[in-house]
Amino acid sequence: MAHPWWKTSVVYQIYPRSFIDSNGDGMGDLNGIISKLDYLALLGIDVIWLSPVFKSPMDDNGYDISDYDDIAPEFGTLADMDRLIAEARVRDIKIIMDLVVNHSSDEHPWFESARQSKDSPYRDYYIWREAQSDGSLPNDIRSYFGGPAWTFNPATNDYYFHQFSTKQPDLNWDNPAVPDAVHAMMNRWLDRGIAGFRMDVIDLIGKDVDNKVLANGPTLHSHLKAIHQATLKGRDALTVGETWSVTPETARLYSAPEREELSMVFQFEHITLTFDPVHGKWKPREFDLVALKQVFAKWQTELDGNAWNSLFWNNHDLPRAVSKYGNDSTYRDASAKALATVLHGMQGTPYVYQGEELGMTNVAFESIDDYQDIETRNLYTERLEQGDSPTALMAAIHKNSRDNARTPMHWNASDNAGFTTAKPWLKVNPNYTTINVEQSLEDQNSIFHHYQRLIQLRKTNATLVDGQFELLFADHPQVFAYLRKTDSETLLVVGNLSTERLTLQLPGNVPTESSRVLICSGTPLTEISQQLQLAPYDAFIASLR
Ligand code: NOJ
Repeated sequence: MAHPWWKTSVVYQIYPRSFIDSNGDGMGDLNGIISKLDYLALLGIDVIWLSPVFKSPMDDNGYDISDYDDIAPEFGTLADMDRLIAEARVRDIKIIMDLVVNHSSDEHPWFESARQSKDSPYRDYYIWREAQSDGSLPNDIRSYFGGPAWTFNPATNDYYFHQFSTKQPDLNWDNPAVPDAVHAMMNRWLDRGIAGFRMDVIDLIGKDVDNKVLANGPTLHSHLKAIHQATLKGRDALTVGETWSVTPETARLYSAPEREELSMVFQFEHITLTFDPVHGKWKPREFDLVALKQVFAKWQTELDGNAWNSLFWNNHDLPRAVSKYGNDSTYRDASAKALATVLHGMQGTPYVYQGEELGMTNVAFESIDDYQDIETRNLYTERLEQGDSPTALMAAIHKNSRDNARTPMHWNASDNAGFTTAKPWLKVNPNYTTINVEQSLEDQNSIFHHYQRLIQLRKTNATLVDGQFELLFADHPQVFAYLRKTDSETLLVVGNLSTERLTLQLPGNVPTESSRVLICSGTPLTEISQQLQLAPYDAFIASLR
C-alpha cells in the first residue's frame, strides 16, 4: 500500500521570531523565511512546521493568540503568509501551522467580552468558577508557568482557569460553540493552502477541571474525532499532536489510522528521562543511554504497524540536542552527526529544529535579565522566593531553559550572526562566529551536509521508512545500535555516543559479508566487519542486504 506522504517526509521546525529578520526590527518574520526557502530546499526537507505567527500580545511568544485569522504585524501580513505558502509550494515544501486551541490570549475579543459580564455571549467560551465557601481558590491546580491555575476576575467576582500564564485563559471545549469556531478556523487555513497542523498541548482539551483531570481527559478523543470529521477528512493533511501525557497504548488512540484522529503524536518519554521525578526539568539529571534506548525501543516496536512515530531530539521548548545528549565542546561536530544518524535511522517522521542542522548549542547567559522566556523568568522568581540559591537556579536554566533553543539562528559570522541589523529580541549565542550557515555550506563535511545526506537517504531507501526495529546491545552504556528489517533488506544503524574509542563485536546473526555503508560520520567507512572499531561518536547506517 502506498504511504501517506508524511511517512516519507522530513519536517523542519521554524521558530519565526528567531529565524531571520528582514525588516530590521530585531525579530524574525515571514519575509525573512521566504528569503531562506532555497536554503531549506537545499537541506532537502519536505515540510515546515511554523511555530505560531498569529496576532498575539506575545506573552508566550505567540502561543497566546488574540486573532486566529490574522498574522502578528511583527511577523508580516496575510499577504506575506500567502506568498510564503506559494513560494514554498514552488520548492515542493509544505507548511503546517501551530494550532493553539487549548487556550487563547486574554486579549482575544472572546475573552475581552467574557471577562466583562456574566451575560456576555462569550462567557461560556472559557472556564469560570467561584471561590470556595471559605474564600479560597476553586481548587489547587497549579499553572505550568508557576502560581495557581486560577486568576480572579473582579468584574464578575469569580475565577478563570489557565494552565499556562494568566494571559492564556483555557478555552471551554464543553461549550459546542468552541469546537465549532475552531473547526471553521482550521478549514479557513486549510483552504488557504496549508498542509496541516502541529497541535499545541492537544492532550489537554478534553479536561475535567473539577475532578482535576487535565491531560487525557474524558472528552479528548471525541473532540479529536469531531475535528477530523469537520476539517481533515478527505484532505490528506499532516497533523501532529503535542502530547506530554501519551503512552504507546494511548498513542494508538490518537493515531491508529482507523481511529480517524491525528497522523501522529509527539511523545516526550525520552525527554522526561532527564527530568527529576519531583522537581522536573529544573533539577536536571544526566541522561542514561541504556534507559533512553529502552524508551525508543518500546516506542519503535509498539507503534510498528499500529501508528506512527515522530522522531525528534529538540524543539523550541527544549535544550539543544548536542548539548543535552551529545558533547558540545570537543566532539560537537561528531556528536551532532551521531545523534542525527541514530534518530533518522528509526521508523517515524524526523523533525529537525532550526539550527540543529548546524549543531547549534545551548547558551549560558550570566544574568537572568538576559532571558526572555516567561517560563524561565517566572520560575526564577518563584523559586528564589522559596529559598533556592540563584547559582543552582542559573545552572538549571543553563541546562533546560527554553531560551537555549530560541537564541537567533546563525546565518554567518557578521554582527548578530546575520540574523538582524538591529538589536536582536534575544541575545545571540556568542559561538556564532564559528557555528553558522555560511561556514556549514562551504564545508562538504559539515553537520549540515550530513543532515542533507540523511534526509536524501530517507527518500531513496524504503527500509528506512518501513523496516522493523530491533535493538542490539540493549545494555551497552555507550553504543546505540539497532537493525531495521524488511523482507528484502536489513539495515544496521550504529552510533558510538561516547567520547571513548570502542571495539564492538557484532553478534553472529548480524552478517556483514555483503555489507555496504550507506552513510557514515566520523571514521570513513565503505564496508563493515563483525568487529567494529569505533572512534568517539562514530556513527553509520549500513545495508546488510
Ligand atoms: C506548548 C508549546 O510548545 C509551548 O511553547 C507553549 O508555551 C505551551 N504549549 C503553551 O501554549
